[in-house]
Amino acid sequence: MPDLYLRSICGALVLLSISCAAFWAVGKSGGVPVAVIAHRGLSGLAPEHTWEAYDRAIEIGADYIEQDLHLSADGVLVILHDDSLERTARGPESNCSGPAREKTLDELRSCDFGSWFGAAFHGQKIITLEELLAKYGRTTRYYIETKHPDQMLGMEEKLVAELGRFGFLDESQPGLPASVVIQSFSRDSLEKMNALAPALPRVQLVDRGGLAGKLESGLREIASYAIGVGPNHRDVDSAFVAAAHRHGLLVHAWTVNDPTEMERLIELGVDGLFTDRADLLIALKAAY
Ligand code: G3P
Ligand code: CA
Repeated sequence: MPDLYLRSICGALVLLSISCAAFWAVGKSGGVPVAVIAHRGLSGLAPEHTWEAYDRAIEIGADYIEQDLHLSADGVLVILHDDSLERTARGPESNCSGPAREKTLDELRSCDFGSWFGAAFHGQKIITLEELLAKYGRTTRYYIETKHPDQMLGMEEKLVAELGRFGFLDESQPGLPASVVIQSFSRDSLEKMNALAPALPRVQLVDRGGLAGKLESGLREIASYAIGVGPNHRDVDSAFVAAAHRHGLLVHAWTVNDPTEMERLIELGVDGLFTDRADLLIALKAAY
């Protein structure tokens, strides 16, 4: 009898731990276990990489907010996607056009990064990584891309130093959920991050068709230094998901804004989606 009693307690504990694991896998936004990665913030409804876009993503309960890192000419980590300022910056031409990495932080701060998206967003400023981490701390999770690290040398060292200052290196979580995930198209950059901060989970981004004809061998290699793969969503089919999972890799596909495509990928069993419309993905998950 005591044995049976013990067994039922153990059984309950096992079930509880499975439920806990499922909860963490699902993240904060509930439904099916697909991480909602707010690509450049809620960038379908507010200008990318601005406070407006990040505030809204956090408010609606995205699991992660995404950043593209850039180094200013004076060596400050700022959050910006494009190499060039033309698309998203407005202001004095000498400061707000041309390659962003040739501008100092002060010059970048003179630009308006909201107006291009809509007059209502006039005055949105560029955000430094330091400002971002200081504002949000542990109230959200960060999915940080080292963008063109070969053109901005020292990016990884600065990133690790900044994360260390805010205490993000003290966690030692090999998988998700982690407060910080590092992503890159550059394997070299991820290997460098592995050497500098091995506890931070890494995801290898892959360009469209990047694993064509070498799915198995490519994923096997990625699994040697990353916990996940980030393919273009059009490359994801059942064979891709099955192979990635066989190699122990999470599949975080980018960038999916159409609910029908979100649903297709959820049905295939992807583990996360980068989306400009985190609101739509959260609603879709809730409907499951
Ligand atoms: O980082 C995932 C996805 O954002 C990759 O594409 O060009 O939007 O950085 P991109
Ligand atoms: Ca990105």
